[in-house]
Amino acid sequence: MSGNEIRERYLAYMKERGHAVIPSASLIPANDPTTLFTGSGMQPLIANLMGEPHPMGLRLADSQKCFRAEDIEEVGDNRHTTFFEMLGNWSLGDYFKEEQIPWIFDFLVNDIGLNPQNIYVSVFAGDEVNNVPKDTESVELWQNLFAVKGVSNGVAHMGSEKEGGERGMMDGERIFFYDASKNWWSRAGKPEKMPIGEIGGPDTEMFYDFGTLHDTKFGPHCHPNCDCGRFLEIGNSVFIEYIKSEDGSFTKLPKRNVDFGGGLERITAAKNGNPDVFTIDLLKNVIQKIEELSGKNYTEHTNAFRVVTDHIRGAVFMISEGIYPSNTEQGYFTRRLLRRAVRYADIIGIPEGELKMLAKSVIDTYKNHYEKILEHESDIIDTIHGEEVQFRKTLENGLKEFNKIALKVTLPMKREGGKIVFDSTKEKTQQKFITGENAFSLFTTYGFPIELTVEIAKERGMTVALDEFKKFMDQHRELSRAGSEQKFKGGLADHGDKVVMYHTATHLLLAGLRKELGTDVHQAGSNITNERLRFDFTHEEKVPDDVLRRVEQFVNSAIQNNAKVSIDTIAKTEAEKDPTIEGSFWERYPDQVKVYTIAGNDGSVYSRELCGGPHVEETSLITGTFRIQKEESSSRGVRRIKAILE
Ligand code: ALA
Repeated sequence: MSGNEIRERYLAYMKERGHAVIPSASLIPANDPTTLFTGSGMQPLIANLMGEPHPMGLRLADSQKCFRAEDIEEVGDNRHTTFFEMLGNWSLGDYFKEEQIPWIFDFLVNDIGLNPQNIYVSVFAGDEVNNVPKDTESVELWQNLFAVKGVSNGVAHMGSEKEGGERGMMDGERIFFYDASKNWWSRAGKPEKMPIGEIGGPDTEMFYDFGTLHDTKFGPHCHPNCDCGRFLEIGNSVFIEYIKSEDGSFTKLPKRNVDFGGGLERITAAKNGNPDVFTIDLLKNVIQKIEELSGKNYTEHTNAFRVVTDHIRGAVFMISEGIYPSNTEQGYFTRRLLRRAVRYADIIGIPEGELKMLAKSVIDTYKNHYEKILEHESDIIDTIHGEEVQFRKTLENGLKEFNKIALKVTLPMKREGGKIVFDSTKEKTQQKFITGENAFSLFTTYGFPIELTVEIAKERGMTVALDEFKKFMDQHRELSRAGSEQKFKGGLADHGDKVVMYHTATHLLLAGLRKELGTDVHQAGSNITNERLRFDFTHEEKVPDDVLRRVEQFVNSAIQNNAKVSIDTIAKTEAEKDPTIEGSFWERYPDQVKVYTIAGNDGSVYSRELCGGPHVEETSLITGTFRIQKEESSSRGVRRIKAILE
């Protein structure tokens, strides 16, 4: 069964059960500064899980594009990919465990036909510290479902001495209790890691047993969360019921939610009975293309084939959303993917300049489901080819520089009468490390991402002074923001109010720009932190200073007049026709859209814009004076403004 087919079947299955099928949100989360990329299906729905109504109702389903930057180095085994699709369904305070567990089992077993003998599940063992009970309801539901299929349904407790210690796959055990380190889900991980205001809850996960032999290197007995490779997690139903309060304790959300996520690639691999996700149709085309171009076999260079395949696919999706290779923020990851792909392509022996052909295979695989890929086909191919060519030039020069550093010989020295002189009794040593400054210059002058320097150094038995490198980088302004450590720094919860203020200010900014520069100005991108807003918009030329000052005045007068923000939900077709409503990325919105209007008490309208929120209710809640700090070019036909509330 193909991945495309499983995606369609899943969405149809959920639709039949009353779910509205919504389009995948963008890979860059809108107005969520806590993370650079969308890494799970629930991220675009946080506000709704916290209680804000969703225009499409209480039951939603989708296949969400996800990117996990932190997994780049993991790629190479049979299951990790940076980009993946997560099938998801949500109950926003509607159905709960009694529906979710039987449905997902029915889908996996009866709809796509997985053998129930090969399905194992885990459940939450309870958490006394946080006063969250053991999930016995889920256990009962699972036991009944397995019993109906005539499959053993014993229960085991894992990992806790008190509960009987680690026992593992023994007589007919199928349902495994684990503590919060495994069976609790939130964006930040287990309960202790969650910032105040973050939501999460116990979960129950499904695993597929590929029946391979257990490797005792990973423990005496195998169990679903064992890392030996026998089991693959294929789905997770999270029962998002809790929010972390100010005092660190957990309180119940007004409504109980379900958040299901299942990796499309992994479910497809389970269906095909092969734990290697790279053998499924969605990735196989690329693997075959690499074989064709290089004359090598996947089995000879498995690791490198996987890296190239994953990275090209990731880059195709990034570029389809306008995330071009660059040295900062999200674009840095597009660059890293492509540069790593070039290096691994060379290891395999793919002829130079052929990455574009691999991109073409990805595009052909996905273009029927993802319009943006089809739409941007030539741009994607040109960008990937351009980056390959550019990188090859810098790679050559950079490697020369690297060799110079690596060949540097350290002379043994000694002190003699206050002077430092060469010690001829000792042997000369080859340099064994790359200094922070070397690594920094390889980065700035030769475009070597630090990971590349580390990789090449490792190949040559050298180490890199990473801490020192980081110091150089920190000085190098914004770039340090690109690392994934950015994730959860501060957290939306702590700074939510500030971010919301900036979000409303962004609407006013766009309205001001349109007023001054004309209605050809549209949003091209937005990124908000608790310290500033950054806004990209379509416009050809530099915006003169006097215009920027007038835009500032417009925003500040709206703030001073205490304009009110109101929300209307209307049909997208109607909104699209209304020239007073500003919107971009229409295709990302559902059929019913929310229009945010910011209007003064005298009825004068400052801004009307399509959006998903959140916003302040009235502009007096925006503290500070709006000031544009910088206006610059962002890319062809797109300008960028950075502004603060001071
Ligand atoms: N949000 C849950 C996950 O990503 C479903 O595993």
